[in-house]
Amino acid sequence: MAYKIAVIPGDGVGPEVIREGLKVLNAVSNVTGIDFDFIHYDFGGERYLRTGETLPDSALLELKEMDAIYLGAVGHPDIKPGILEHGILLKIRFGLDLYINLRPVKLYPGVWTPLKDKGPEDIDFVVVRENTEDAYVGIGGFFKKGTPDEVAIQQMVYTRKGTERCIRYAFELARRRNKKKKVTLCDKSNVLTYGHDLWQRVFAEVGEEYPDIQKDHAYVDAVTMWMVKNPEWFDVIVTTNMFGDIITDLGAIIQGGMGIAASGNINPKGVSMFEPIHGSAPKYAGKNVVCPLAAISAAGLMLQHLGDIASGEERERLYKGAALIDRAIEKAFSLGYIRSLQAGECPPTSDTGDLIARFVEEDDRCVKGF
Ligand code: IPM
Ligand code: MN
Repeated sequence: MAYKIAVIPGDGVGPEVIREGLKVLNAVSNVTGIDFDFIHYDFGGERYLRTGETLPDSALLELKEMDAIYLGAVGHPDIKPGILEHGILLKIRFGLDLYINLRPVKLYPGVWTPLKDKGPEDIDFVVVRENTEDAYVGIGGFFKKGTPDEVAIQQMVYTRKGTERCIRYAFELARRRNKKKKVTLCDKSNVLTYGHDLWQRVFAEVGEEYPDIQKDHAYVDAVTMWMVKNPEWFDVIVTTNMFGDIITDLGAIIQGGMGIAASGNINPKGVSMFEPIHGSAPKYAGKNVVCPLAAISAAGLMLQHLGDIASGEERERLYKGAALIDRAIEKAFSLGYIRSLQAGECPPTSDTGDLIARFVEEDDRCVKGF
């Protein structure tokens, strides 16, 4: 059976990093026999400018029939911010109920980090970001817009169900990772005394079902400080949508930069979407200068996730695919092929894709019977 993967390269550098990701997935396919059927969609800024369409409802229905979605980036300099974000990215996250945004923060050996005296053993945690609620729901409005008396309201929404499923996922993940076995709740319950009170109560309640997992709490402002000063304290951080958005850009830079930060938008019982978190970066578009490792790593997360929801031999094959990608990235660093993840300083986009694809293919020859 071939895995049906919807590919949405999107805007800016999206198409060039996705191209490299597909190269690597094809290499994985050659080595493991996993079969992919890539279905390409042209949603993004160019299509919007041409047709006025972001993501039609019919496309959302089609996406529901896929095994996974592989997204580049959306965002276009000629389009008012918000249109593509809401019309495409958030429409998919909400429409497919992708309630977890999984964002690993892992420093590979040999990669530069701005944190002095910290290494790969210190920077290895995962942010579980709630992905369908909070200020992202788009509820609000204006009153007396454009006048000196203007009022603007933007609601933050938290539900018991949304909070609980996210927190439960975080505890399960801490168990599965089997590392520090610790979940840190990151909130602002000292100020958001309704919404984040709900998070506090659900965390305590769900946490009781996980006596083997250590419970920890930090306010979001303090989390930004600890992520810099003591990143080794973290294993799994669970947090709300907007705080998760903010702290994962910080997470990206401590793992070397946006060039490697990947994410999974996950519905454990549905169709999930995988993307680099760097966005469309229009000023670098079409120049072959950005690092595609974030997109490549997102492809690895996709295989890992497909493995999680598969069983038996098929699961092993998918896990093997994910491990091949991870090891190829690690090898590229440890052999010194890639020294920087910053645009313009890293090797050309297509060279990195070729290299990782080659390492994936060579790996199997070294470890027959993996
Ligand atoms: C991200 C992005 C999006 C978000 C934007 C583009 C809507 O910043 O995936 O982190 O805020 O979730
Ligand atoms: Mn973001």
